[in-house]
Amino acid sequence: MGKNLVVFVFGIILFSACHSSSDSKKIVRPAPDDISVLGALPLTVSTPINNPSTPEKIELGRLLFFDPILSGNKDVACATCHHPDYGFAESLDLSIGVNGTGLGGSRNFKQPNDIPFVKRNSQSIINTAFNGITNSGMIDPLQSPMFWDLRVKSLESQSLEPIKAFEEMRGHAFMENNALAKVISRLKEIEDYRKLFKKAFGGQDAITKDNLGKAIAAYERTLVGNNSRFDQYMRGNTAALTRNELEGLRLFLKDGCTKCHHGPMFSDYKTHVMGVPEQEKLRYSDSGYAKSYAFRTPSLRNLLHTYPYMHNGKLKSLENVLEFYEDLSGGKQANSRLQFSQIDPLVSNLNVDFKDIAFIVEFLGALNDEPLEKSIPARVPSHLLVGGNIH
Ligand code: HEC
Ligand code: HEC
Repeated sequence: MGKNLVVFVFGIILFSACHSSSDSKKIVRPAPDDISVLGALPLTVSTPINNPSTPEKIELGRLLFFDPILSGNKDVACATCHHPDYGFAESLDLSIGVNGTGLGGSRNFKQPNDIPFVKRNSQSIINTAFNGITNSGMIDPLQSPMFWDLRVKSLESQSLEPIKAFEEMRGHAFMENNALAKVISRLKEIEDYRKLFKKAFGGQDAITKDNLGKAIAAYERTLVGNNSRFDQYMRGNTAALTRNELEGLRLFLKDGCTKCHHGPMFSDYKTHVMGVPEQEKLRYSDSGYAKSYAFRTPSLRNLLHTYPYMHNGKLKSLENVLEFYEDLSGGKQANSRLQFSQIDPLVSNLNVDFKDIAFIVEFLGALNDEPLEKSIPARVPSHLLVGGNIH
């Protein structure tokens, strides 16, 4: 409450300052050298050499993405947790897959239930085509790192993982080691899929797990939002960011955020120990990458849709995330299982001041942008519920 008042009063002072001077020269634009650690997203998407995108593949991938035929009980689709209405993410702290009902923040388990929560917060699929992009805009789509612990490379390989995961899509219907084979034989029984796979890949035996991954990946590569106001600014439109957003950008650079959030995706695609509080909804402690409590630096694009924040959804708002960083700068650590000395020095040495928070949050808002084409198919070849049990 006290803090809000300070922000409010400070906001008024700032507001009047801006308006009394009417001197646009006062806007501090970041120096080209400072800002060169960030960048606009490319205008085009790179595809792997063995999976060029075609309209047939993309359309097949779109149908598969929305079709719950890929899940054990035929009630969970990729779109269940990555729905276009929620920016291809969702608004739960931890995902609910098998035995769930509803969409977004109102998704819940059906009763009785013996399925645990998925252990992590769902990322958005938007711009995953650019995962792994370097500061200079280079990207190798076969090596694109995926997940909060970098455990899989490429969209092609990633797409097969949820089908095998017990709490996400598989449930009690199959064993992990034959889940993909079972799903492939289901697809082979559906005439529309036989036609669509043949059209997309050619040959007699086109329904394979490789081609399943390739079709979904081709669709995901169309889900790009590369024209945020920040991208426009970086491409030369200096009017694209407001005065407050520019101030937020300056503080983002000055406070040290770009030590990890850099490049066009605002991520180094490395893991860091941050000491996010434990998630009590899990029956165990999620120790992340190599059991070290390190998690991958997430992209800061489309944060509008990825709340609640962090790998376990423990922080409810961007203000909470910034307060978490302010506490770390002040020597306060939030995870009961870690010592302060274990926290990555890149983050414990940050210099986040309370008065920077509102500006940085405003700047992060300029990083939102959605794909133009994100339509939901009217029906899927299995004739099951489009998007799974979400209605
Ligand atoms: C039950 C919810 C759920 C379902 C169903 C689901 N996902 Fe996810 N997805 C998640 C969660 C949670 C994560 C983060 C997991 C992690 O990092 O350990 C994730 C991560 C991803 C990522 C990685 C994003 C990144 O930046 O690393 C991609 C890509 C993805 N999912 C695609 C898919 C596809 C394709 C399907 C269908 C085959 C699918 N998901 C089904 C919840 C779900
Ligand atoms: C040491 C590297 C590092 C630095 C420095 C850093 N971050 Fe992060 N950031 C991360 C990692 C890693 C996560 C995920 C942590 C987790 O979930 O355990 C994260 C998460 C976030 C998230 C949540 C995103 C989401 O989708 O859940 C936001 C927002 C964020 N950081 C903003 C910032 C800002 C603003 C600064 C500067 C004040 C900053 N970060 C400094 C590495 C860093």
